[in-house]
This record gives sequence, C-alpha cells and structure tokens, in this order.
Amino acid sequence: MARHYIGTTDQFPVGEATLVQVGGRKLGIYRFDDDQFHALLNYCPHQGAELCRGPVTSWLRSPKPGEFQYEKEGEIVRCPWHGWEFDIRSGCMVVDHKVRTLTYDVTVERFDVSVDEGKVYVKI
Ligand code: FES
Repeated sequence: MARHYIGTTDQFPVGEATLVQVGGRKLGIYRFDDDQFHALLNYCPHQGAELCRGPVTSWLRSPKPGEFQYEKEGEIVRCPWHGWEFDIRSGCMVVDHKVRTLTYDVTVERFDVSVDEGKVYVKI
C-alpha cells in the first residue's frame, strides 16, 4: 500500500466530491466541515455508475407521515443513477435497521486519507 499526494487542502471544497485518479482508480475525495477527509471509489456497487458524481446530502427519516428528520447532514452521497445512498464515512449503504427484510451487505471501497502540513494524501 502506497501513500499518494493528491493536492493541498484548499483544492478540496466542503460539501462536494473532488474527483481524482490515483493508482489507476477513480476516487471521490470528500472534505467535511470539520476538516476530516474521506475517499470513496467512484463506482456504485449497484450497476457501476460514477457514484461520486452524485449529490452530497443527508439521511432523511420519517418517523410518521408528514414528519421528517435530517441526519448525517453532508455525510451521504446519493448515486446519480438509481439513487442508492451511501454513508461517506463508512462506505456502507444507508438503511433503516428497524425495517427488516432479507439483507445483503453493500459497501463502496474506501481509502484512508491523511493531511500533513496542508497536503492531502491517500493510501492505495
Ligand atoms: S448504479 Fe448506483 S444506484 Fe444504480
């Protein structure tokens, strides 16, 4: 596993993905408003759309009709093709765990990102 320089922190705006190519892979780099960085493979596990071109949003819950709660603001990416949503921190598909049916783990490959003196690196 190698550490790759991908740019300076100011090249990565908060609230959207910055697409980079590292080690032959296309990644979306996400910077949160607390200056944490995350990287996801730009490939949706459903049918292969460029996941990181999708909007960054929040998880919407509806505990009862007409009532909406937004959680994980700015931490969810929605696939631009069929709308599957993934937690950017974990790469896991977001689901309501109280509603059960047959389940299958769906994740997006994620990579470690580090910042050193204003320079951003990703490990691949
Ligand atoms: S390809 Fe992403 S939800 Fe279908």
